[in-house]
Amino acid sequence: MPDSAHLPRIASVRTLIELRRQVAHLRKDGARLAFVPTMGALHEGHLDLVRHAKTLADKVVVSIFVNPLQFAPTEDLDRYPRNEAGDVALLEGVGCDLVYLPTPDVLYPEGFVSRIEMNGPALGLESDFRPHFFSGVATVVAKLFNQVRPDIAVFGEKDYQQLAVIRALVRDFDMAIDIIGLATVREADGLALSSRNAYLSPQERAIAPKLHQALQGVRSALLAGEDADAAIANASAFLQGAGFGQIDYIALRDAETLSDVRPNRPRRLLAALWLGKTRLIDNIAV
Ligand code: PAF
Repeated sequence: MPDSAHLPRIASVRTLIELRRQVAHLRKDGARLAFVPTMGALHEGHLDLVRHAKTLADKVVVSIFVNPLQFAPTEDLDRYPRNEAGDVALLEGVGCDLVYLPTPDVLYPEGFVSRIEMNGPALGLESDFRPHFFSGVATVVAKLFNQVRPDIAVFGEKDYQQLAVIRALVRDFDMAIDIIGLATVREADGLALSSRNAYLSPQERAIAPKLHQALQGVRSALLAGEDADAAIANASAFLQGAGFGQIDYIALRDAETLSDVRPNRPRRLLAALWLGKTRLIDNIAV
């Protein structure tokens, strides 16, 4: 007899047929389903999403899929951190009910030719540097939503533009799914949790929290009535002095549409920049 302490306590499935069977089982008696799509290499930020999802629905499904469609050939698809067994163990610990681990052929079988193009909040910022990115995200998220058919889906605000794009996708395609965005989880020194933080050397890791510091500095300057361009220029100089490389953008945008700021509307400060070979993104409300 196997030792029951070592039996997996949550179901994990790899195929669409198995997924549909397990989801039907979870949904019996009218249970509400929350979904947390991820690319794995899970950290406390993801676990926070799952814990929160548990408070919003009866059952929680998490997917782990490193989506090739959202990586350009020059990007880190091959070295993106993967730790399936560790991820499943973490998900067990936070009460996830089902883990979906599709292989690329389940999402993109032979003959798959469709692609969702996004405008609106997808324009600018990340798209100026990763033009393929939101099309890849929108396509995989639409597929995952159609496969899992959740009532609620939970995403982190760390990928703030992605969250705005997914809200637009769900609205435009009449998907009956509530999209919930949760505040970024940070290390004690302010660094936003990210699977890509694993790429940072100890030296880079020591510098990385200065990004959040710089964004907070811009916010304080804006609240003190300083000019946005000047505050952003100061932050850029501070970051380059601290050892960051290319700054892709530090930009103040309308918090909802991500277009230019307008009076009396919430604003969001977003940034993407390089530290050695690692690209970091972060954002804060202003
Ligand atoms: O944020 C992510 O991890 C990914 O972009 C997502 C939403 C799971 C789509 O692949």
